[in-house]
Amino acid sequence: MKGIILAGGSGTRLSPSTDSMNKHLLPVYDKPMIYYPLSVLMLGGIKEVMIISTPEDIARFETLLGDGSALGIQIVYKEQAEPKGIPEALILGEEFTGKDDVTLILADNIFFGQGFTTLLRNAIKNHQHATVFGYRVKDPERFGVVEFDHHQKAISIEEKPDDPKSDFAVTGLYIYDSRAVKIAKKLKPSERGELEITDLNKEYLKWNQLHVELLGRGFAWMDTGTQESLFDAAEFIKTTQQRQGFKIACLEEIAFYLGYISRDILYEKGKSMEKTDYGQYLIEIANRKHSQQYWDTIDHHPMLGLVENE
Ligand code: G1P
Repeated sequence: MKGIILAGGSGTRLSPSTDSMNKHLLPVYDKPMIYYPLSVLMLGGIKEVMIISTPEDIARFETLLGDGSALGIQIVYKEQAEPKGIPEALILGEEFTGKDDVTLILADNIFFGQGFTTLLRNAIKNHQHATVFGYRVKDPERFGVVEFDHHQKAISIEEKPDDPKSDFAVTGLYIYDSRAVKIAKKLKPSERGELEITDLNKEYLKWNQLHVELLGRGFAWMDTGTQESLFDAAEFIKTTQQRQGFKIACLEEIAFYLGYISRDILYEKGKSMEKTDYGQYLIEIANRKHSQQYWDTIDHHPMLGLVENE
């Protein structure tokens, strides 16, 4: 399974904050936005990731995350010359994904909730054809909307419908088999001039091959496309982190618990930024005894054979 993060776009709805800076590098409270989708892929067990962004911004992502080796993963980068829609990410990633399945995530989507790692890992393990994740929202008309029967089988999917057939938005997290590239190449741009991921999902639906995984009410799914939603997301992260003393989407912590990096490396990284709360947190984890207990509090599942680096 390969992972693709789409971090393109012009971010015009966040201007002037995005006039000289890619939206996905803006902080959501205490870390850049892209940490959140990258944490999702890492928790899903994906170790090979492609980040797609604009020609102007790609170097900034590289400065931030490098080749991924500091996190024990591999990251490669690809330019998207113009924002031509989400399915273009699959086309741009064609060589990278090859014959593998791919998990695609939009860089402004934040997922958080007890059991998410397990749900995602199961979805990846049991995946066939196409899997999307549905989440109930108050304003479904802003999103792709999926309607399903009582067996959770998708029966319709529409992009930003005036009259939504359900309250379930399709989140910006998708798992596809290798056919998705071929399908993406055949799509025609919509009225907004973009290839639509909903059109790609409709193709799978036509063949009865679109699986919907529901994220229940205990999950938080946020997109950060507007000033308001970005602020709300930051507040949510701050409040949750301060209450629990755990950080959300702390990449080094995840890499450590997954056994990708050693305690020493984690400590060194913390030391290199010890003036920050983030750095202090890394040092604290590196100094913890019985780390497994802490990991279990985040998300327990025996499938995650974690923390061999104790
Ligand atoms: C895109 C997709 C939409 C999906 C949403 C999730 O919307 O087109 O189907 O529900 O991402 O964030 P956009 O961000 O292009 O408005």
